[in-house]
Amino acid sequence: MARTKERWGTRLGVILAVAGSAVGLGNFLRFPGTAAQNGGGTFMVPYFCALLLLGIPICWAEWTLGKRGGQLGYHSCPAILGQLGGSRIWRYLGVMGLLMPTIVYMYYVLVESWTLAYAGYYLFGRLDLGSDPSQYPARSSQFFTNLVGLDQDGFMLQGGLHPSVIFWMIAFGVNFCLIYRGISKGIEKFCNVAMPIMVLCAGAVLIRVLTLGTPDPAHPDQNVLNGLGFMWNPKPIGSAHSALSALADPKVWLAAAGQVFFTLSVGFGVIMNYASYLGPKDDVVLSSLTASATNEFFEVCLGGLITIPAAFIFLGAAGAVGGTFGLGFNTLPVVFAYMPAGRWFGFIWFTMLFLAAVTSSISLLQPVIAFLEEALGVGRRASVTILGLITALGCLFLIYFSKDLAALDTMDFWMAQLGIFILGTIEVVVLAWVFGARRAHWVACQGAELHPPSWVFTVLMRCITPLCLLTVFGAWCYLYAGDYLRSLARGGVPLAAVGIIATVLLFMLILVHLAGRRWDRADADRLPPSPPGPEDVG
Ligand code: PHE
Repeated sequence: MARTKERWGTRLGVILAVAGSAVGLGNFLRFPGTAAQNGGGTFMVPYFCALLLLGIPICWAEWTLGKRGGQLGYHSCPAILGQLGGSRIWRYLGVMGLLMPTIVYMYYVLVESWTLAYAGYYLFGRLDLGSDPSQYPARSSQFFTNLVGLDQDGFMLQGGLHPSVIFWMIAFGVNFCLIYRGISKGIEKFCNVAMPIMVLCAGAVLIRVLTLGTPDPAHPDQNVLNGLGFMWNPKPIGSAHSALSALADPKVWLAAAGQVFFTLSVGFGVIMNYASYLGPKDDVVLSSLTASATNEFFEVCLGGLITIPAAFIFLGAAGAVGGTFGLGFNTLPVVFAYMPAGRWFGFIWFTMLFLAAVTSSISLLQPVIAFLEEALGVGRRASVTILGLITALGCLFLIYFSKDLAALDTMDFWMAQLGIFILGTIEVVVLAWVFGARRAHWVACQGAELHPPSWVFTVLMRCITPLCLLTVFGAWCYLYAGDYLRSLARGGVPLAAVGIIATVLLFMLILVHLAGRRWDRADADRLPPSPPGPEDVG
């Protein structure tokens, strides 16, 4: 078997790589839009509950599973879950840790290429919204529509190569070049350089936004303080009268849980793979907390202070609303058009977004590359080529069916909203109930610089987190699944997108089945030492 001997170079390197995976478009675009739409300051109550009860425990679970799997010589989700769960069923369920990164990569890299395109257009002064401010919103939305082909399918491939296809090729190529270079030479080196640049870029834009004062004397209420208040003051949602009403709305809690999963990159199998390149004496508990804290700094302190307040300052309350893409690609260019030196701040902002997206998208590729190497016994070049072909086909499907982003939304719905709960539950059950919470605590604490008390770890992993997961999952099915399935029954592009997901799933399942035989044979030749139990400690 082609067992890779790859390792992270340094402890800071692994923390930055995991933080790089976590810090992405979710922090700067998804978070501000979701928080503002779900009660502003009030949203932070369910957000922090979800962080403490779901995000951090599942993060610990993924780090611990990955670390133990790596000690046994495995790096992919099916192999690790199959080994630690001691049964084939977990191996097959582990296919979710391949399916989700593959499908999410297909659309994530596309959005990443839009940020690259915007950075390029700003750099060359080609994103000009004209001199009439009343025309800015219409021109900005026209620019985005033309770039992504929002109004028509097949738009991108008509009449020569569309510029956005070229930007996609560049973004796609950058990802695969980095991933080809490997764990420490590719991912770690890139994150070590990109993360500080991102802090500098986001810091520069933040200072610009916080020093805007009251740019338009005709609208004295549109100032920095009110912009921050608009984002962060607790406010009622819908027709409710009190800000606390948001807390009674299950949709707000679901939005918070979904955001926490997405932003921390947990429940995708990505962190498990990264942790499998740790050494046996490497810390897990503190490193994972440091990476999560870094992500929260980017999300709340940078993402939460820039996008919405800036939009409020120039466009007022009515202009500072919108979903992830509306806010990021329609509203912000209008804000930059108003802002002094906006062209350069636009360039800095979108370059930062591109870097943030690359550090995330490479983390979506590595778990599948590791699996292909483990499953087929092939080298890096072959596995990179196979995954490149699969994901390129998926991307071309999304590029072609661009109308209203229906295909992209479908993939996001099934993977980043539904899949995360499924894989999150599988991971916690394998760790706490099958592998054993006390054993898991022992693995996590080997070499750890922070020791959570065993009972806290056990109660969280065995009871609290699984119960929260089941509650959130049940509420999600009750509130959203029915409507969605009905819309799917109408067929068309969403159904085709589900077809792609199903095809990739089938392909991966076949590979897992074939790989399982290989792994069983290898294990028969090389019985792994059973991990010491807690009774062996001290
Ligand atoms: N955490 C990333 C973001 O906030 C998204 C992501 C999810 C990346 C899962 C990798 C794995 O944008």
